[in-house]
Amino acid sequence: AAVDPFTVAMPVPPVLRPTAVVGGTEVYDVAVRHTTTEILPGLTTPVLGYNGRFVGPTIRARRGRPALVRVRNEMHYATNVHLHGGVVPASSDGHPSDAIAPGGWRAYHYPNRQRGATLWYHDHSHHMEAERVYRGLHGFYLVDDDAERDLRLPSGRYDIPIMLRDALVADDGTLVFDPARWADRRTILVNGKPQPVLRVAARRYRLRLLNASAHRIFRLALPGADMVQIATDGGLLPAPVPRTELSLTPAERVEIVVDFRQQPVGTRLVLEDTSGPVLAFDVAAEADDDSRLPDQLRALPPLGTPTTVRDVALSFNPGSTTFTINGQVFDASRVDARIPLGSTEIWRVTNTDTAFGITHNLHLHLVQFRVLDRDGVPPGPGEAGLKDTVAVPPGSTVRVQATFSGFTGRYVYHCHFLEHAQIGMMAQFEVV
Ligand code: C2O
Ligand code: CU
Repeated sequence: AAVDPFTVAMPVPPVLRPTAVVGGTEVYDVAVRHTTTEILPGLTTPVLGYNGRFVGPTIRARRGRPALVRVRNEMHYATNVHLHGGVVPASSDGHPSDAIAPGGWRAYHYPNRQRGATLWYHDHSHHMEAERVYRGLHGFYLVDDDAERDLRLPSGRYDIPIMLRDALVADDGTLVFDPARWADRRTILVNGKPQPVLRVAARRYRLRLLNASAHRIFRLALPGADMVQIATDGGLLPAPVPRTELSLTPAERVEIVVDFRQQPVGTRLVLEDTSGPVLAFDVAAEADDDSRLPDQLRALPPLGTPTTVRDVALSFNPGSTTFTINGQVFDASRVDARIPLGSTEIWRVTNTDTAFGITHNLHLHLVQFRVLDRDGVPPGPGEAGLKDTVAVPPGSTVRVQATFSGFTGRYVYHCHFLEHAQIGMMAQFEVV
């Protein structure tokens, strides 16, 4: 079904209010449900949703103020929740083997001690995460940080999370999840709607872009306006970085500031992916703007001194059609790395799938890492901040460095092309 582009307004997911504040901890309640949405006009699409929303409500946490998120499972099958990019205890990390049974609930403790960042929460069910996230179990979790306040970046309704993902919608409105049909033409959804339009004022905006697709890389451009990148997955960069193109593999985030004052009122700007137009910005009105885009943003934490180097090979195995890490598929009883709490390591991550041309990425739970180099070449300034997910193109080797502090326990690391993860490309480290 084809839709006229730019007729539907881009929704902004509502911010979830805490149910209570107990001893300084904000308590949130989230129910995971079967629900429906309208993706294409006039068609009802059965989906899954946090609080019944295809794009879950946004949780806006404050650094230094812990959150307790109580998740009730009202679906017919098990689920769990992972806070992607969060520094959280292992018991609250949404480990694939921690399932909330139908009718059950679980409380997740999020300390929010980390820097301000655009995080997101999603299902992490064993062997089912790709389909569950695809059907709607995804939402934003933003950590606001007082240390950013003096920067006076655009805030409030001028600070907008934008979730990009693809979907294959059948003629009857159902969402098709079929890993064999990745080549079929897909609809790109922006906060759950295809090719929507956002009316903006002629002023600066902070836009937080997330690729929530299971299997798609976005390459984005905004002809006619400057995109100035201010943050990576784990928070602000040391200084703004002008970008003409942004590449996002699954689960990666970038934050950009766009100044729509560069355009006369009445102008339409279109955010484009290599697959076509994604989102229109209609500059609708003049506006006051007391926000700023300072030359300096926030210094990165110092890089520690690495004591260990590990090799991680990401490979497709055509014989068994499995995806492996160091030749093995995921096994929840196996720990591939024991890491002393507080130590710093370099991981040398190689994608061996040159013959098949398969791109992977690597996501580590618990930590924000730094990209040291890709095939020996240091990352560009837009990738030189705190990251939890990094692209690993076919044949390349990416070195990342992380300090494993915060909590002990078992955490997973995996490719975030989620169908690769769910059929094996996942392993565990244990902080001891
Ligand atoms: Cu966003 Cu283990 O994942
Ligand atoms: Cu992969």
